[in-house]
Amino acid sequence: MSNTTDRLISPIERQGDEALDLSLRPKSLKEYVGQAKIKENLEIMIAAAKKRGEPIEHILLYGAPGLGKTTLAHVIANETGANIRVTSGPAIEKSGDLAAILTNLEAGDILFIDEIHRLPKTVEEILYPAMEDYALDIIMGKGPSARTLRLDLPKFTIIGATTLASLLSAPLRDRFGVTHHLNFYENSDLEKIIGRSAGILSIDMDADARKEIAQRSRRTPRIANRLLKRVRDYCEVKGDGRVALKDSLEAFKMLEIDELGLDLIDRRILETIIDKFKGGPVGLNTLSAASGEEMETIENIYEPYLMQLGFLDRSPRGRVVTALGYQHLGLKGPGTDKLI
Ligand SMILES: Nc1ncnc2c1ncn2[C@@H]1O[C@H](COP(=O)(O)OP(=O)(O)OP(=O)(O)O)[C@@H](O)[C@H]1O
Ligand SMILES: [Mg+2]
Repeated sequence: MSNTTDRLISPIERQGDEALDLSLRPKSLKEYVGQAKIKENLEIMIAAAKKRGEPIEHILLYGAPGLGKTTLAHVIANETGANIRVTSGPAIEKSGDLAAILTNLEAGDILFIDEIHRLPKTVEEILYPAMEDYALDIIMGKGPSARTLRLDLPKFTIIGATTLASLLSAPLRDRFGVTHHLNFYENSDLEKIIGRSAGILSIDMDADARKEIAQRSRRTPRIANRLLKRVRDYCEVKGDGRVALKDSLEAFKMLEIDELGLDLIDRRILETIIDKFKGGPVGLNTLSAASGEEMETIENIYEPYLMQLGFLDRSPRGRVVTALGYQHLGLKGPGTDKLI
């Protein structure tokens, strides 16, 4: 069974990404590529809050891994001039941990809670009054004589990040003033991101090579930066260091990443459905057993991109490879009744 996080085209942070992410992370809204609608909304919100001299509203950011949620939280902090404290759902185990973080905040601070859907329920409940009334309710004593003591907190902002908004409980979701859904990027935006990263890393590259890398980046900035670095390495060893189209194509051939960013495992999943199940429908369970990939991985990592490309459909009876999927593998589809 393959290890998903080892895949070059996995959107999930891999070892070695952290340093790259840090050096390439845009600092301002102007540098942040794409997501035009979100940036426009944020600009207005930030300007209005500045005018009133108040902290900005609580913001929930959701979107697939590697699309720029953490980056955007830091950009917002930069743009507002606020201090940002960073924590995550799984890091806060007890309500006391969160109480300690909250009481240490200063007016105007931003508290970034990554993977906010993983906050334990008891901790989450502390957040409700904190977000709504800037108050911390502490229960003193036990049983009938227990009393609640309300502590005032400074006015602060919570930015929460999660991969799916539906993972959040309704009461928590409702307490965010704004929710922004980060979309997958257009290839033209990925080209800009790659160009910007190449500049920072002092990589000399041709425009057509940039285009090829963008096209294979699965519409995800993290993957774009990772592929850029890999291709650069290849060109340094095999060529004269300049990232040219010819060397880039050779690098992708070696890495077994095709022109749409699919790797061997993506193709194996499609081929398994075609070869063993006549193109589907096949249940996730069965597909997992037949392909040797975990169910969760198939569902969360491979399928979303294959579906976005229109190569795979989720029907009520299971997974189906579409005509486009067949075409991409250079195969002829089965009877027309199976085609989309
Ligand atoms: N809009 C953007 N413009 C330029 N670069 C970006 C943008 N969004 C993301 N990146 C790049 O992609 C990298 C990954 O983004 P980031 O860590 O913010 O993703 P994330 O959504 O927080 O992912 P995860 O769900 O894994 O936490 C960043 O380090 C940055 O270099
Ligand atoms: Mg993140």
